[in-house]
Amino acid sequence: MTVLLAVETSCDDTSAAVLAGDGRVLSSVVASQDAVHAPYGGVVPELASRQHLANLPPTVDSALREAGISERDLTAIAVTCGPGLQGSLLVGVSYAKAMAWALRIPLHGVNHVEAHLRSSWMEAPDLPYPSLGLVVSGGHSHIFHCRSPHDVALVAATRDDAAGEALDKLGKRLGLPYPAGPLMDRLAARGNPKAVVFTLPRMSSGSLDYSFSGLKTAALHYMNLRGLEVPAGADPDHLPPWAYDLIASYQKRVADHLMQVLKKTALALRPRSITMAGGVACNSHIRVRLQALGKELAVRTAFPRPAYCTDNAAMVGFQALPLPQAAPPPEEVDAFPTAIWTRMSLEVNSPCRTR
Ligand code: KG4
Ligand code: ZN
Repeated sequence: MTVLLAVETSCDDTSAAVLAGDGRVLSSVVASQDAVHAPYGGVVPELASRQHLANLPPTVDSALREAGISERDLTAIAVTCGPGLQGSLLVGVSYAKAMAWALRIPLHGVNHVEAHLRSSWMEAPDLPYPSLGLVVSGGHSHIFHCRSPHDVALVAATRDDAAGEALDKLGKRLGLPYPAGPLMDRLAARGNPKAVVFTLPRMSSGSLDYSFSGLKTAALHYMNLRGLEVPAGADPDHLPPWAYDLIASYQKRVADHLMQVLKKTALALRPRSITMAGGVACNSHIRVRLQALGKELAVRTAFPRPAYCTDNAAMVGFQALPLPQAAPPPEEVDAFPTAIWTRMSLEVNSPCRTR
């Protein structure tokens, strides 16, 4: 019987999970580092790796305890090898290597982004392939064409900021605590999404890439031109009304752009399902928009519950399953900061230009 420990330390969240061989999650523990990075308004890589060093042993202990097992019950370990912050990855990979070596059990390296892509299958195991997968987080706004869990090709990527980064940066200017995305989601409900009309990013002919930096700059200009500022230390629940309108309009445009490129890609590739994962996939407006797109195109859509959208080890364990017969010796599993996928180029007749 497989009892798999999964470890995830690719960015700023330390996570461990225990899974059964059939994909059941027996425990899933995440130690957030948000409080450590909040004063800097973004992840500080050096601090992230040091924090992983402190957080990982107790996080693994909690995962084993919650699953009601001891480390001697483990039959395998899965660990995120990349892409991510090199220092952060090395902490998780070194820890997992040492544990696998000491317990004499196999170690399986997992690609973090491919684990995000697979996470929708944790909720909907019968979702059909080929599938189009949007990974949307603080570091990614990427669309992949997935023929199977291990056969994925990159179709679109962001040329500059990721969607989560764009949300976090406007949130920072509005004085919201880092990461601002979850709060922007809640506060957007108080504003009018039609109050501020931002131009949708214009893509050059045929391009399917994302670009969020123009939208971010437009929002910051909007505030500068009108002399709009949020008083320092303002309570997010008592911001001036213009701030809620700005958040709602901005969030809507981020969603418009995400769906605009996803729709073009889906029309070109005609997938049998469309999925979405990563921290921004927690966003309530974007979740509704993906479901609406699925209805419009008559394609099944799925996304994980919020706890499996943000970085978590459960999806890493799930991506490692079913475990292959042979695993490389633990010392051969290594961390890689960047990933290179096969790039699929699409013929798109009309430019991605809109209103
Ligand atoms: O996947 P994730 O936990 O970490 C990586 O970036 O890899 O994603 C974090 C991002 C942050 O930018 C955060 O603001 C955003 O996800 N986020 C959200 C929501 N929850 C998290 N953005 C919009 N709405 C949310 N509800
Ligand atoms: Zn991630």
